[in-house]
Amino acid sequence: MTSANSRHRTPPFHRPVLITGGAGFIATNLAQRLIDEGREVVLFDNLSRPGVERNVAWLQQRYGNKLTLCIGDIRDINALRRAARGARDIYHFAAQVAVTTSLTEPLEDFEVNARGTLNLLEIAREQSPSPSIVFTSTNKVYGSLGELGLAEHPTRYVPVDDDVRQHGISERHALAFHSPYGCSKGAADQYVLDYAKTFGLHAVVLRMSCIYGPHQCGNEDQGWVAHFLAQALAGRALTIYGDGRQVRDVLFVSDLTEALVMAQRDAAALAGHAFNIGGGPGQSTSLLELIDLVGRLTRRRVACKFAKWRAADQRFYVTDFRRFQQATGWKPVVSLENGVTELLAWLHRGRGALSAATAAS
Ligand SMILES: NC(=O)c1ccc[n+]([C@@H]2O[C@H](COP(=O)([O-])OP(=O)(O)OC[C@H]3O[C@@H](n4cnc5c(N)ncnc54)[C@H](O)[C@@H]3O)[C@@H](O)[C@H]2O)c1
Repeated sequence: MTSANSRHRTPPFHRPVLITGGAGFIATNLAQRLIDEGREVVLFDNLSRPGVERNVAWLQQRYGNKLTLCIGDIRDINALRRAARGARDIYHFAAQVAVTTSLTEPLEDFEVNARGTLNLLEIAREQSPSPSIVFTSTNKVYGSLGELGLAEHPTRYVPVDDDVRQHGISERHALAFHSPYGCSKGAADQYVLDYAKTFGLHAVVLRMSCIYGPHQCGNEDQGWVAHFLAQALAGRALTIYGDGRQVRDVLFVSDLTEALVMAQRDAAALAGHAFNIGGGPGQSTSLLELIDLVGRLTRRRVACKFAKWRAADQRFYVTDFRRFQQATGWKPVVSLENGVTELLAWLHRGRGALSAATAAS
């Protein structure tokens, strides 16, 4: 790894960027940024996530022929090979993203997340020069973290260990895949690191906590911040699984795209390493605290009902991002309140457009 000060100027980019899962939430935000910077972008997606077709329509309307859409499945290696031809950089996001779905469909979860990633790595290995790869892994590779000692405060769980309380969970924490999703993403994470070591690919892993922001099709199974906000705006009750005191660090998507671009820029130096990425202790919130914030920002009472804890749910996960910060200089800059305000505004605009369209039809 090199220090932030030894970075070089951006070289000219003649070869496109491939984003798998290119219609999804994170991909849409990243594509916007890359195209605005003058890159040619190829999106590869099977459009399986409900709502992502709206992201594609938005990108196509904004950017027209500056982007190419390849509709295909990550499990189809030939379709993926065609999309990856000539790519200089690859961001690999395509995934079965929900723990809940992995519990009911573990084979599909494995095929998409583990086998799909292996397809991509093989395609990268075939090419000369090989494209660099940034892969989005997950905090779920550290398991349910049931061994953490936690004190029960009125609105949140608080780790008793000073270091974890101050800095969060670092990459030194033992891997403990839990849930089929944890296993399939964890397997993919390890394959990416190994292909860097064994085959010399410039491949980097970012283990991410909860990301939120515009273009997120949040639902009960994944994307909980966007889901909570959308439910609150619609005046619908939220279901909280557990007691609501579980803690997460959340990261606004523009901070994540900055980290993704930095990881890609420095992929040669960072190859074979995994980094925890999230908002860190400064952007941590429990579910109850977020609901309180949403109530204040929307000036509405947010109704909640409680249900049983979900399998593999972590009582506490907050990212220690210092390793990535030391390697690249990155740190999050968008505060929780500003990020939530921006997402609320985006959701408002979307609801406005939707009701205008309904009224006109
Ligand atoms: N959003 C988060 O909080 C978060 C946290 C940790 C890790 N991640 C990881 O980041 C990546 C992107 O997440 P996101 O929030 O943008 O999710 P998303 O669901 O919005 O995007 C994923 C995209 O992948 C596509 N896809 C699913 N299966 C596919 C397949 N078989 N072939 C091709 N495309 C397929 C979907 O249609 C969707 O557009 C995922 O790999 C996810 O596991 C996300």
